Amino acid sequence: MNPVMENILSRRSIRRFLDKPVEKEKLDEILTAALWAPSGMNRQTWQFTAVTNRGKLKTFYETIAKVLGRENYDFYNAAALVIPSNDRESRWGKEDNACAMENIFLAARSLGVGSVWLNQLQEISDNGEIRAILTEFGIPAQHVVYGMAALGYAAPGEGEKIPPRKGILKIVE
Ligand SMILES: Cc1cc2nc3c(=O)[nH]c(=O)nc-3n(C[C@H](O)[C@H](O)[C@H](O)COP(=O)(O)O)c2cc1C
Repeated sequence: MNPVMENILSRRSIRRFLDKPVEKEKLDEILTAALWAPSGMNRQTWQFTAVTNRGKLKTFYETIAKVLGRENYDFYNAAALVIPSNDRESRWGKEDNACAMENIFLAARSLGVGSVWLNQLQEISDNGEIRAILTEFGIPAQHVVYGMAALGYAAPGEGEKIPPRKGILKIVE
């Protein structure tokens, strides 16, 4: 199998991370992969913000937990978080960001870094407490967040379970 296919098929969502930071060089490559995703009419109305500061991550996930009334919410102890945001008026912002998310996941996988989609900001990026944190991170007020990518090194055994695929594949000739 060619290495790109191998990378696509072997990527798994990782939900238990080691306390090990993601190297800056790897994070740079992952962010570059995000930037090179396709976007509708090549508008590129997005921004990619990475956060690695443990204290800031903790404040962020604790605020999300509070706003959503969730217990035990901690970004799975991820060492880094990539927050793709997009202009709220952008016609295909959500699709563009989803393409960037998959680039992030595949780039991370190719570098030995685990990842998972975090969906919790979809409805709450304009909540006052959440917006204050996004502003502190330099995310424009005009931007909303759809999915975020948690990144880190997988804990032993994590990602070995393979969720079966059930979509229908057809080729019409
Ligand atoms: C739109 C979307 C939202 C998701 N939200 C979450 C989430 O909030 N938390 C999480 O742990 N996984 C989330 N996932 C990951 C899926 O659960 C995961 O991709 C799926 O179970 C298949 O497993 P795999 O990624 O290991 O192949 C999300 C994936 C997508 C595409």
